[in-house]
Amino acid sequence: MRTQVGIVGAGPAGLLLSHLLHLEGIDSVVLEDRSRAYVESRVRAGVLEQGTVELLTDTGLGDRLHRESLVHRGLELRFDGEGHRIDLSALTGGRTITIYGQQEVVKDLIAARERDGGTVLFEVSDVAVDGLTSDRPTIAYTHDGRAHTLECDVVAGCDGFHGICRAAIPAGERTEYDRTYPFGWLGILARVGPSSDELVYTNHERGFSLLSVRSPEVCRMYLQCAPDEDIGAWSDERIWEELHTRTATRNGGFTLREGPIFEKGVAALRSFVCEPMQYGRLFLAGDAAHIVPATGAKGLNLAVADVRRLAEGLAQLFSGQGSDLLEHYSETCLRRVWRVQHFSWWMTSMLHRFGDDPYQHRLQIAELQYVTSSTAAATTLAENYVGLPL
Ligand code: FAD
Ligand code: PHB
Repeated sequence: MRTQVGIVGAGPAGLLLSHLLHLEGIDSVVLEDRSRAYVESRVRAGVLEQGTVELLTDTGLGDRLHRESLVHRGLELRFDGEGHRIDLSALTGGRTITIYGQQEVVKDLIAARERDGGTVLFEVSDVAVDGLTSDRPTIAYTHDGRAHTLECDVVAGCDGFHGICRAAIPAGERTEYDRTYPFGWLGILARVGPSSDELVYTNHERGFSLLSVRSPEVCRMYLQCAPDEDIGAWSDERIWEELHTRTATRNGGFTLREGPIFEKGVAALRSFVCEPMQYGRLFLAGDAAHIVPATGAKGLNLAVADVRRLAEGLAQLFSGQGSDLLEHYSETCLRRVWRVQHFSWWMTSMLHRFGDDPYQHRLQIAELQYVTSSTAAATTLAENYVGLPL
């Protein structure tokens, strides 16, 4: 089998790349090792930057998104038992964020690829890339019990943090920057309407918590926990009790609404960057190249920004107009990647409990007081949160 762009991974990065290439008349094949049902139900991110929403809308993926998503114009930072609103829109010339689950984006992308006759193969195994420094790289894989080789002009490594593409770059040709955090997030979905009109990020002495939402009937909530927390130790009662404690306000004016919990999971938090994001004819995009802790709500949006650059570069290449965009792909992406790395690390550092260090806690409160009282500091948070221009 032959294609112009062989894409490993049917997460948001791989699927969106395939969709954007199709609009440019470029052929691609997406290879995914999990099942379609699995990738469509994997619960992850929820916040889309305005630029992400605009791209999805402009490329024909906006129908259900605009019908079912929730547009937010601000968020709340809660600390010392008091809430402080950050008016994202007022601070950014009217920009907004949109709440729409990542798995809904994935469903919309798969439906669009199906409608447009795209090839997305699920449940492939033994995926291996080869010939990356030649002009005919290949991807070997097994599908339906048979071994295949896909010949490509270019390989896109969109296979997430645990994929095989990044590891195919010889160790001497890449540098990896890594930070792990001494905590993770316990995330739940509950069938209940939101307790607050906007997202609430809380710094509490027992640890961080976050109130988010998915729809008028479903909420998404997180608690800081140990990175290897045993989810079995968290009954629904214990989760609600901890959420009540961490989100309580001093004046007692806040009421957390409870409902049946139908999804629970623990995710570790980490920061990671691989440089460069290219090796020969292999281009990495999204989590395959970088990870950010979820506190800044940036992982999915950063994957979208990479893929947009990659699609532009490939469109230039395949239309015979040169390769300078692709030659600068890594450098261009990494500028945004490191800005987002800093923002996500900063939000994480400001809001989580790091052991029993009272000095660090006083610094966090000083930072939160500054961010919620200085227009300059609040603007820094707001413009990064809604997404810096591409
Ligand atoms: P992925 O979504 O990881 O997609 C990669 C795909 O490649 C997967 O479908 C995988 O199955 C496939 N794959 C892997 N290996 C192979 C292989 N060898 N062959 C073929 N296919 C392969 N971000 C936020 O902003 N907010 C959040 O709350 C949040 N929560 C998260 C929770 C978890 C548990 C994780 C892991 C991530 C979370 N993120 C969150 C980050 C966000 O979801 C990612 O940044 C986003 O999914 C990146 O998209 P991607 O397409 O680059 O990678
Ligand atoms: C989510 O709704 O899942 C979500 C929101 C904000 C974050 C992370 C996750 O920072």
